[in-house]
Amino acid sequence: MRRAVPRVPDVLAIPFTRAPSCARSWLALCGKYRLEISVLTPTNPTKATTQAHPNIALIKYWGKRDTALFLPQTPSLSMTLSGLSAKTTVEFSTAFKADRVELDGQSVQGRELERFTMLLDRVRGLAGISERARIASRNDFPKAAGLASSAAGGAALTSATALAAGLDLSAHELSRLARQFSGSACRSIEGGFCEWQKGVRSDGEDSFAVQIAPSTHWPELRMVVTICSEAKKAMSSRLAMQHSVDTSPFFEGWVRQVDLDLELARSALLARDLDALGPIVETNACRMHAVAMGAHPPTIYLKPVTLEVIEAVHGFRRDGIQAWFTLDAGPNPVVLCLDTDAACVAQALSAVPGVLRTVTASPGEGATLLDEHLF
Ligand code: PMV
Repeated sequence: MRRAVPRVPDVLAIPFTRAPSCARSWLALCGKYRLEISVLTPTNPTKATTQAHPNIALIKYWGKRDTALFLPQTPSLSMTLSGLSAKTTVEFSTAFKADRVELDGQSVQGRELERFTMLLDRVRGLAGISERARIASRNDFPKAAGLASSAAGGAALTSATALAAGLDLSAHELSRLARQFSGSACRSIEGGFCEWQKGVRSDGEDSFAVQIAPSTHWPELRMVVTICSEAKKAMSSRLAMQHSVDTSPFFEGWVRQVDLDLELARSALLARDLDALGPIVETNACRMHAVAMGAHPPTIYLKPVTLEVIEAVHGFRRDGIQAWFTLDAGPNPVVLCLDTDAACVAQALSAVPGVLRTVTASPGEGATLLDEHLF
């Protein structure tokens, strides 16, 4: 396959250059990128660093129809978060003998390394290159604790890898690639509010995330991430969702229900109606956990402190505060509320015994190109 050589106007149209969040001017960004692509040839490899943010699903993805291509059985809807981020640098070079990956300074080996190599191979195939890669990634929030670290990391990795390989991909193409690294990563390529279309094709070409509203659509919306545990969870979401598909009698009901949940959530979101959005978000998260708990043996992510936080959220509502929780595959609830209540919600949740800390996030941006590399 011919190596793709990006043309500058197309490169400027890719999502991570559209709204750079880092502190530098638009022109400086264009100038730097122009410089980098001008030296990009198969024997003169390049390096790129991007940043992406986690997304938290308002309507969850739980269960695949194709485990190899990461095709979901149901669509999902998420908000990309400001604040928390993953940064990834990727470099291709003929000097490298093998792909090498470091996550937060730890070298990645074995099956985990294979996941990276699979993504690298897909990108090398598209770009028509064969150089091995060096990858370094850093997260500023805990991994594998239900905070969608794989979404942020996967989106940063995919966008940096495509750029370093000289590919000129659209947001939807990047989303499709990111999906195959970690399903939910496809929703962190773009910012704001994204819907991952499940698609119907067996090759997965129609399964990617589409931004339904930018971050500016609802700047008052907040998610208070309540960190109760930073420990790595016992069962990854990937394994747990497959276990639900294979053994939970509630899985069929979940698949029947999600389209309806999503319709309600989408209209409430587009209307900026938290009184309509909150209840369906909370119910959908509980439905997902009910499916997981109905598996055999059960998958239980909730800890005693998780239930304490849930109780506190219900208490907020009794006191007239609009607050609803959602919960990914981990013990850390995320509370949906408005900016006017966020400080009070965060303060009250920080005081719940067992809560380590809270992080308040607003709707954030998609993947952005950075000019400082990690190595
Ligand atoms: O993409 P994964 O394998 O990290 O799975 C994500 C699953 C949930 O976080 C529980 C739900 C979701 O839609 O993000």
